[in-house]
Amino acid sequence: MSLDRDWWKRAVFYQIYPRSFMDSDGDGVGDLPGIRSRLPYLAALGVDALWISPFFKSPMKDFGYDVADYRDVDPLFGSLDDCRSLVDDAHGLGIRVLLDLVANHTSDEHPWFVEARSSREHPRHGWYLWHPIGRRDPLGRPVPPNNWKSLFELRSAWFENAATDELYLGTFTRHQPELDWRNPEVPAEFAEILRFWFELGIDGFRLDVATAYFKDAELRSNPFSWKPLDLFQRHLYDRNRPEVFGALAELRKAADERGDRVLVGETHGRDPALAAACHGARGEGLHMAFNFEFLFRPWSAKAFRESARAWYAALPEGAWPNFTLSNHDQIRHARRFRKAGFTDARAKVAAAMLLTLRGSPFLYYGEELGMLGAFPRRSDLRDPLGIATWPLRAYGRDPERTPMQWDSSANAGFTEGKPWLPPEPGWRTRNVEAEERDPESVLSFYKALLALRRSRPELALGSLAFVGEDPDLLVYERRGEEGPGKARVLVVLNFASRRRNFTLPSGGSVLLGTHRKAGARILAGSMELSPCEVLLLAVD
Ligand code: NOJ
Repeated sequence: MSLDRDWWKRAVFYQIYPRSFMDSDGDGVGDLPGIRSRLPYLAALGVDALWISPFFKSPMKDFGYDVADYRDVDPLFGSLDDCRSLVDDAHGLGIRVLLDLVANHTSDEHPWFVEARSSREHPRHGWYLWHPIGRRDPLGRPVPPNNWKSLFELRSAWFENAATDELYLGTFTRHQPELDWRNPEVPAEFAEILRFWFELGIDGFRLDVATAYFKDAELRSNPFSWKPLDLFQRHLYDRNRPEVFGALAELRKAADERGDRVLVGETHGRDPALAAACHGARGEGLHMAFNFEFLFRPWSAKAFRESARAWYAALPEGAWPNFTLSNHDQIRHARRFRKAGFTDARAKVAAAMLLTLRGSPFLYYGEELGMLGAFPRRSDLRDPLGIATWPLRAYGRDPERTPMQWDSSANAGFTEGKPWLPPEPGWRTRNVEAEERDPESVLSFYKALLALRRSRPELALGSLAFVGEDPDLLVYERRGEEGPGKARVLVVLNFASRRRNFTLPSGGSVLLGTHRKAGARILAGSMELSPCEVLLLAVD
């Protein structure tokens, strides 16, 4: 692909959870050839870049977020050659590919950890975080140095390693020992891993829990918090230490050697200020860091306006925003926002918002169908967090990982075998094939929005000004910075499930709408919006 340093600012990203997208060999688990076979669908949908969740060699204790070899593909997903073919084909269709770098921890089966845990003298020992075992409690269990928790095991994050008489740290599971990023060999190795994949043609990385790489040097205990999802701790000391910014700059250097590669960091926690701080306005940090606020906002125009405003204000000068409504760790937004009779209508309003706000949108596979996800039966649970917290529904992540729904054949056309998770109920009607035939479907609406976004650069790069403070109506104008017309698009989104009056500040013609035909003229002044109406207007 030709060198285009800023492509990611215009791009619409599409996250693929590879286990669940398309299975090519009938083992019930999606794979790289499966993704490759569906590239024409993605090109026709109109996305610009894929982020594929980890497919590296892994014992799959956290379904790939536990890596045992960063330079190879797990046989479950295919081979390095499959990866090359996928990237080549994607590039041929004008689609870029981002991988997922899990650099905070490895698998406990990674040869680095196997060596490290064998002896305190082994040169690899210093790649991980250790604490000598001192006191034991009356049951003989070692007393941990602090209160840090393993998120998915809901217990102390310190695990015993008998061979060295030490504890190692695992803030996700015991199978994900944490690396010591203060050891300069660790960042150096990850910069080399980036280079390996860049050489293969990969266009960038999503960095898993990028703000967790450094822990407090004194291992201080976290203070109490009332938030159950944060396990009643404010993660002051086991995450988000300021030293991380230096390490992110190191990784950025490796990306910049290629000119057009992109790094998007996952920040741990929901603090937009933290995400904002990871952005390298002057090119020294990440290209983008995820702002997860939208994942936790209720269905309210006011709430999204406030959230977007706060995010824009928090970003340093020159940094570029991004927005996400769903991902592989959170209940899908169509389910979060569902309302009898309005679920698809709301999915369209949400899509219009995501794809027209100023900032790169990240879609999650299947959201373009209005997929809701489903809570599996206990016997079908796969996610370690879901298993540990059953029967609570707030934590487990299987519901958002169900198979992509391609058609009405068995298992939604995802696999010829037994799918690793059952598809969500309703897949016989909610699938690509059925929605492609229906001009009113959520999928048809996504396609129209994506096509419009491509044809109107102001929707990607233009400035944004909110109009009004109505609690139900989210209204903003996108204005092109360049070109003779300085084109203006007014976005009007009615979040209410009832009619609402609106005063249109200036007339224009409909570009895209849920209730009006493209090309229709609307005059300035008072107008009535239908429930959950989306209206995109080219302003005169
Ligand atoms: C964040 C990822 O999004 C999640 O899926 C994973 O379990 C943890 N990091 C651990 O890698």
